[in-house]
Amino acid sequence: MNVSKVFAHRGSSLKYPENTMLAFKKAEKSGCYGIELDIHMSKDGYLVVIHDETVNRTTNGRGYVKDLTKKDLKKLSIKRKWFKNEKIPLLEEVLEWAVQTDLVINIELKNDKVAYEGMEEAIVQKVADFGLEDRVIYSTFNHQSVKKLKKITSSEVAALYSKKGTNPLLLIKSTGADAIHANFRVMTESLMRDCQHYGIPVRLYTLNKPAVISKWINAGLAGVITDDPDLAEKIRKEK
Ligand code: G3P
Ligand code: CA
Repeated sequence: MNVSKVFAHRGSSLKYPENTMLAFKKAEKSGCYGIELDIHMSKDGYLVVIHDETVNRTTNGRGYVKDLTKKDLKKLSIKRKWFKNEKIPLLEEVLEWAVQTDLVINIELKNDKVAYEGMEEAIVQKVADFGLEDRVIYSTFNHQSVKKLKKITSSEVAALYSKKGTNPLLLIKSTGADAIHANFRVMTESLMRDCQHYGIPVRLYTLNKPAVISKWINAGLAGVITDDPDLAEKIRKEK
């Protein structure tokens, strides 16, 4: 048996529309360990589960999430064929469902391109409202935000990166993060072993090809972040 845990990236997003309740519920059915989701903030301060800064790519609307209210956002439909009934969820809707499951929730704060005043505090409070502190992992590419999260929560905080040449150990040292989440293309087995030596969990995204998933599971990767949790679970169980 191996140590790797499977996280469904934006839910079961290969087969279902990313960051929707449907994608999260289908992910749970795969038997995966956790889900990953992305958060922006609306004009009226709601925590919105969506990947991009704008609604343009994934919905039938236009504009920045930060310029739209909850009411505006809830009017929109997801653009993906066959799934037009799906809506953009709020974080609280996902958490309300997640408390009834055993899933670990990797909440990625999308505050590296747009600055959201008070986002860290708002998310940490929302997680506390649902008593999910022990079942969340925060992550962000904004390393100042990693430092801030470490001050205001006891939940696990991961530093995200995708830049080649980044040394994960130095990143842990400079941010105080508990874990590393990295693009698999910039990780080496040697760097991962360095992290393992110091007990630092490494989770890689986005592992979708069988050979890649298999390679990293064999190397003892802590977390496989994948669009296809059914496939990753199958590979993991066959080991
Ligand atoms: O959290 C890992 C991964 O989701 C980061 O990249 O662009 O898919 O949010 P992205
Ligand atoms: Ca993400």
